[in-house]
Amino acid sequence: MTITMRPALPADAAALAALSTELGYPADSSTLAARLAVLLAAPEQHFVHVVEQHDKVRGWIHGYIRPLLESATCVEIGGLVVAADSRSQGLGAHLLQACEQWAASHGIAELTVRSAEQRLDAHRFYQRHGYRHIKTQLTLRKQLP
Ligand SMILES: CC(C)(COP(=O)(O)OP(=O)(O)OC[C@H]1O[C@@H](n2cnc3c(N)ncnc32)[C@H](O)[C@@H]1OP(=O)(O)O)[C@@H](O)C(=O)NCCC(=O)NCCS
Repeated sequence: MTITMRPALPADAAALAALSTELGYPADSSTLAARLAVLLAAPEQHFVHVVEQHDKVRGWIHGYIRPLLESATCVEIGGLVVAADSRSQGLGAHLLQACEQWAASHGIAELTVRSAEQRLDAHRFYQRHGYRHIKTQLTLRKQLP
């Protein structure tokens, strides 16, 4: 099996949108293209990589540098998804390791990921890669008119 990792390109928008929808965040390709353009314009802050299998995008990861006042700057994993029929073949591990290497290359020693309570399989995946459960939080949101 040939696995290729590479930075995401604008032309990947449709594939990223389909995978984002699989992750539970439905998006059409033009919406995704606009969001991706913002991230690609700031490569020092954002890491967006895809993994390909047989020349087809099968997964993506987005990590970004999160500077805070109350704690050390970390890289937060904003999203990670592998196509359902490509899971358990190591693609997720490749994406995660690439993001960790990017963090280290920026002198950042800590990564954070927030994962919904019900994603027990994903928790197992992260814990296997050395991530520890730190705390459980409530997410609050307000829509402005
Ligand atoms: C979590 C995820 C990215 C892992 O990708 P992957 O390519 O399957 O990862 P790997 O092959 O490197 O590791 C597989 C391990 O991940 C875990 N895993 C998590 N979700 C899984 C799923 N839906 N199917 C299979 N394995 C899954 C298992 O521990 C699995 O180990 P196993 O094969 O021994 O059972 C992928 O399963 C996924 O996209 N899940 C849905 C979206 C999600 O939960 N993303 C994380 C949001 S924070």
